Amino acid sequence: MWAAWGILIFHLSAFEHSLTNMRRSSIARQGRTTLSLLFLVPYATFVAIKSCNAEQLVICVVVGVIYGAAIQSNLAMKTFSMIAKMFPKPSSTPIRSQILDLCVSISSYDNNVQQIIDRKKRLFFMLNKEQQNNCVQTYRRLLENHELQKKNSEFLELIKDSAVEQFDIGKLELMGKDQNTSVRAANEIIEHLVRDWSQDEKARKELFEPILKHCKNKKRVLVPGCGLGKLAYEVAALEGVENVDAIEFNAPMYFVANNRQLLQVLDKSTLYPNLFKFSNWRNGADQLEGVTLDLSAALTPKPDAGQVEVVYQDFLKMKTENYYDCLASLFFIDTAQNIFEYIDQIRRQLKKGGVWVNYGPLQYGTAAYAELSADELFEYIESSGWKIVERWTGTNRYNGSEKSMLHTAYGIIGFACIKE
Ligand SMILES: C[S@@+](CC[C@H](N)C(=O)[O-])C[C@H]1O[C@@H](n2cnc3c(N)ncnc32)[C@H](O)[C@@H]1O
Repeated sequence: MWAAWGILIFHLSAFEHSLTNMRRSSIARQGRTTLSLLFLVPYATFVAIKSCNAEQLVICVVVGVIYGAAIQSNLAMKTFSMIAKMFPKPSSTPIRSQILDLCVSISSYDNNVQQIIDRKKRLFFMLNKEQQNNCVQTYRRLLENHELQKKNSEFLELIKDSAVEQFDIGKLELMGKDQNTSVRAANEIIEHLVRDWSQDEKARKELFEPILKHCKNKKRVLVPGCGLGKLAYEVAALEGVENVDAIEFNAPMYFVANNRQLLQVLDKSTLYPNLFKFSNWRNGADQLEGVTLDLSAALTPKPDAGQVEVVYQDFLKMKTENYYDCLASLFFIDTAQNIFEYIDQIRRQLKKGGVWVNYGPLQYGTAAYAELSADELFEYIESSGWKIVERWTGTNRYNGSEKSMLHTAYGIIGFACIKE
């Protein structure tokens, strides 16, 4: 009987082990293994003591250990994993897992900030006392930076709370993901909110105006790769525009852009987008400068404005054909792996006589099949049934403060062409 108990217990523990392996969550895995040990080991001991004499007990432990070692072999683990896979896993769609990553990035924000600031402080204290006294302000700025990071963190928590509620993300699920995630996803949202929705319109006007003039009086407009959606709302506010479909396949971007309730909460908040940029400030205060959001264009559009629909979709997979009167692409076409596929899809989406207006750089991704120069791009467009009606150029920083001494700006090309 005792041998049976020993075997059963090792079976259970190995099965539990494979089940948790399948879920691939390091913290949860550790938690469950600990649980197994906490419950199964005392239970096995209790059963063994109750049902065996001392001699049997020794044999029981030896058999159990040998059996346990055998059962932890790869083959046994694979068998148990296969069985475990038949059990339902928590459902996860691509959008949900991207949102989960964002939530984890937000959860680890404070920790990451703490590490960065602590390191900066340690470096500061490498200066001798006299040198430290010569730049007390610099040290104070670090402390202030840390305080303002807390405000960014509170802001991000609002986004996380909304995501957790909407996607029914459990605390354990969040804890189960690797908490050493970088702040990148969280910071990207801050930078894009500032790019699209800061109260100060100046930089955006330069970008939007040449595009908007081609979208006027176009009933249906498509904005692929819409980011956080400001261009789509500006297009919708134009005379004669009835519908704007804004397409985005980055789940966090889509989630924020499409979430009115959340936008309402975020409206008029102040963000600090330069806190991770420690160098190149003419004036230290500029690094700590706050930017206030104005989301009124999305929340209270003019009564005669067109409808904006933000859609979570891969632009290349859109099935509509000959549907839109205008397509506005901003900082988008170079996201293509195959630029020809993008241009063909743009063409399919537009009606005959429809307008494609584009403005942005040619900063292709690392795996682009062909990195066409502007000349080559124009040559292809002209040879494939488009009539180019306007070309222009500009420069744009994309994001980052104009007060920084470091100016990285794209030279960008604009063109408008008609589908013949
Ligand atoms: C460089 S960002 C520009 C965002 C926005 N147009 C702007 O100017 O702020 C490019 C955007 O296109 C999105 N994107 C890239 N390829 C896409 C695709 N195939 N379908 C939908 N969105 C896409 C990315 O997720 C990203 O948000």
